[in-house]
Amino acid sequence: MSLSRGLPLESPICVVMVGLPARGKTYTARKLARYMSWLGYHTRVFNVGNYRRERFGARVAHDFFDPSNPTGMNARKTAALAALDDLKTWFDEGGQIGIYDATNSTKSRRKMVHQALRNNNIEVLFLETVCNDPDVIEANIRESKLSNPDYIGMEPEQAVQDFRARIAHYEQAYEPLDDASLSFIRVSDVSRRVELNRISGFRMGRIVNFVMNLHITPRTIWLTRHGESMANVAGTLGGDPDLSERGKRYAIALSEFVNLHSSEDHLSVWTSTLQRTIQTAKPLNRHCIELRALDEIDAGICDGLTYSQVAEQYPEEFAARTADKLRYRYPRGESYEDVIDRLDPLIIELERQQETVLVVAHQAVLRALYGYFAGRSRSEVPHIDMPLHTIIALTPKAYGCNERRFVLAPSST
Ligand code: SIN
Repeated sequence: MSLSRGLPLESPICVVMVGLPARGKTYTARKLARYMSWLGYHTRVFNVGNYRRERFGARVAHDFFDPSNPTGMNARKTAALAALDDLKTWFDEGGQIGIYDATNSTKSRRKMVHQALRNNNIEVLFLETVCNDPDVIEANIRESKLSNPDYIGMEPEQAVQDFRARIAHYEQAYEPLDDASLSFIRVSDVSRRVELNRISGFRMGRIVNFVMNLHITPRTIWLTRHGESMANVAGTLGGDPDLSERGKRYAIALSEFVNLHSSEDHLSVWTSTLQRTIQTAKPLNRHCIELRALDEIDAGICDGLTYSQVAEQYPEEFAARTADKLRYRYPRGESYEDVIDRLDPLIIELERQQETVLVVAHQAVLRALYGYFAGRSRSEVPHIDMPLHTIIALTPKAYGCNERRFVLAPSST
């Protein structure tokens, strides 16, 4: 059974990246792929640089990228076509959102890619990333390019010089997107300016909404479940229980941890609308934003039961949930897929935030949020380890997310 979703009337879309090197194309491509996969679209990035490295080796000097070097030009075209072929095959096999990650910096290259995709009935959305801030370009070169396989083992300064020379070659031939007949998004200076042309349909709208909220300001997201509740003690599902004594001790330990690790001003606290998260955040003595989207998965007719009561009273439901925990929906309640859908706007908000955010929520909801940041597949989401009395600190990085876990285990007496 496929895990992908989408309306039957939706044809596949290829997002074709455009931009000079070190302008955040791969960053944007990977983040977009993670988001669309998390939403359930069968998504994949095809990076032309990887095809070039496989075919011609990683160690090519900057003049390989000189537009007046015919050997380099031919080799680069070969790599671009190989990636495009694989992309088309992948679409034929059911791919829904492909991302063609390359510079695509000339009109003729874009025309070739556009035609090849349109001939296969694939919608094409160009996504150009422009950056004119020398500090951002320099930071990008140093943060992501020095760990690029092209420069492994090379002295950092030599690698930086070579990469700057590579950029200069691309600049000679670069032609910005200006064809009004194409669908495109142009994001300039890390989302400060976004231009849209011929954007239509729900998925293109989703892509626009996502990319216009991306930024590269360093920040941390803390995730924690509420302290132990009376329902945790009883082993029952759902409800709106208070914290147990142990849970209250966790709430105090959490407030001490947060006050030690964050400054007074730069912290937002988000809770669900349920008592156990509100009580967990209370000792923080800070303004908390209560969000229904963070409420625990709705267990429907099973709310208030223990798992063994569910197995006894609703054996078919219990078996169906065990067989497919992602898609199983409690009668009159929710599935994990429903939870992911209702968290979609919150992911956009979390991407947009530039300050530390502490999210105090529930097991299923945090599994879904964490699954997005950690790039876990949807099928893994319902099984992610999300223990009580643990703070997960996530720091988004160029191509992923750093993670630290702090266990604050309060005693039971
Ligand atoms: C590369 O070979 O690293 C990128 C090729 C390109 O898109 O120009």
